[in-house]
Amino acid sequence: MVEMMIKTVEARCSERVEEARLIASQFGGDCVTGPLQNGEYRIVLFSDREELWDYTTRKHGFPLSFQSIDRRIGAGNLSKKQPIAKAVGAQANHIVDATAGLGHDACLLACMGWQVDAIERDPFVACLLNLAVADANRVEDLAKTLQAKLRVQCGQAEDFLAQQTQLDVVYLDPMFEMERGSALPRKPAQVLQALVGQQSVEGVTLLQVAKARARRVVVKRPRKGPPLGDAPNLSFKGRQVRYDVYLSSGDAPRTP
Ligand SMILES: C[S@@+](CC[C@H](N)C(=O)[O-])C[C@H]1O[C@@H](n2cnc3c(N)ncnc32)[C@H](O)[C@@H]1O
Repeated sequence: MVEMMIKTVEARCSERVEEARLIASQFGGDCVTGPLQNGEYRIVLFSDREELWDYTTRKHGFPLSFQSIDRRIGAGNLSKKQPIAKAVGAQANHIVDATAGLGHDACLLACMGWQVDAIERDPFVACLLNLAVADANRVEDLAKTLQAKLRVQCGQAEDFLAQQTQLDVVYLDPMFEMERGSALPRKPAQVLQALVGQQSVEGVTLLQVAKARARRVVVKRPRKGPPLGDAPNLSFKGRQVRYDVYLSSGDAPRTP
């Protein structure tokens, strides 16, 4: 039997009740209180944080926040030696993350210094992403970076791309089965997969649209998985994932 998915929002403090109503209207859900029902995913607004709770864990949600990302300049996650940074390339200024999800890749790329437009088509997921971006305002360095570098839009990426002329880089991370390669911690990755399902087939179409609009398209894949479309011009392997790079015909293949 297929379980119904219920998406809701709850304000745990009186000053966020209006905001909860607004968020519910953005994804077409309800404001609720009380125990979670089977199949329910609930955004919970506390006075000092936001969490996503789901019926499988009931009591423990995960934070809608980028605060735990390692943000040491030039080190760890933000090193330009990371395969994701090499795949984007030193020549790039602007990136369209056309499959933004919970925004961890978009946040990483913005913290690395690129200007990022993050597009997410699922209204509930877009609300989760917007809450994580708003949470960044509680931390000075993140607030400064994300206000300057990251813009989020809810919508179909194909529509956004159709309005652009020559784009610098389009980044794609269509959902694939292997969870361990996600930029997200395990629990958020599982929940996101449950919310939006597998999308590799749709990703092929998006790749075609992106290739027609951008100088460079980067596609995140499982390390040993097949490419999303044709063979890429370049590939950069990490421990668990691979970044395939497609260059527009005018761009000679080069290692950034
Ligand atoms: C694997 S998740 C991306 C995870 C993301 N890289 C992160 O770090 O959180 C893929 C996301 O892309 C979104 N998506 C898929 N196709 C899309 C499209 N054509 N336009 C906009 N969003 C899309 C899905 O709703 C899903 O949230």
